Amino acid sequence: MERKKKKDLLGLKDLSGQEIEEIISWAEKMKENSKRGVEEQFLKGKCIALLFTKPSTRTRVSFEVAISDLGGYPLFLSAQDLQLSRGETIEDTARVLSCYVDGLVIRTFAQEEIEEYARSGDIPVINALTDKFHPCQILADILTIKEKKGRLPGLKLVYLGDGNNVANSILIGMTKVGMDVTICCPPGYEPAEDVIALAQEIANRSGLTALISHNPGEAVQGADVLYTDVWASMGQERDQEERARIFGPFQINSRLISRAREDAIIMHCLPAHRGEEITDEIMSHPRCVIYDQAENRLHAQKAVLKFLYQ
Ligand code: CP
Ligand code: NVA
Repeated sequence: MERKKKKDLLGLKDLSGQEIEEIISWAEKMKENSKRGVEEQFLKGKCIALLFTKPSTRTRVSFEVAISDLGGYPLFLSAQDLQLSRGETIEDTARVLSCYVDGLVIRTFAQEEIEEYARSGDIPVINALTDKFHPCQILADILTIKEKKGRLPGLKLVYLGDGNNVANSILIGMTKVGMDVTICCPPGYEPAEDVIALAQEIANRSGLTALISHNPGEAVQGADVLYTDVWASMGQERDQEERARIFGPFQINSRLISRAREDAIIMHCLPAHRGEEITDEIMSHPRCVIYDQAENRLHAQKAVLKFLYQ
């Protein structure tokens, strides 16, 4: 069988700063058009499968709606219903699915799995979250920050909490669009070492900073954006109690936000554990933009699909 050339989105490492900016400006335009009832139809006749091993509300629904709005057919596949769950290999699954569908949106555990799908099949693969990265979330967040702040370069983002998949993608994505980033986490919960090294290389090249801090009160000073995520990601629930004790000082609450800039926006990718990484009160703060972030998943993903398919 002849292998086709194709593009994937496995992590923001795959995109240049210029490509991210292009995706964001398409997302702005597609959002505006969508509000006027106008949708491009470049997925007409295409079926895109969503293969999920972990639960999802935002990513699953926004991708299904995006694919359908753009004229395509979204096919949801729960990994536990496939022969994968009985030991069929990723390579065989990818090669077989490539015969039927035009793309795979995958949510799973190891980043290596998604890389294997991309190598084995000849259709675009999109990372809908792995333990290491969550690129689609961060593209939507960049769109949200640009809408709220009117610019990206020169802003300072401080992420508080676990150095997880969201933190890893923030480090790479936000430095690529010209922002200073600090990841403030308890010792031992830093982002992946290769990700820190890459973000620092990107930051150094552009005179920016990509820092790791263990001191929340100090880190948030001068921040334009405060961001947090759950202390125990999907698959880490076993350690939840121990994590709640370790992460307590990193909670976003009114005391902490009073140390950031007075126009700082507050972000969370959701789902949130109210009362843990963020207080209930801050979730409904006028500068908390969580529902804009959630809405922008739809528009940013349409732009990702345009990048891969047009
Ligand atoms: N933020 C996010 O990816 O949410 P879901 O897990 O609901 O998809
Ligand atoms: N870090 C979280 C993000 C959920 C969208 C997780 O992986 O569970």
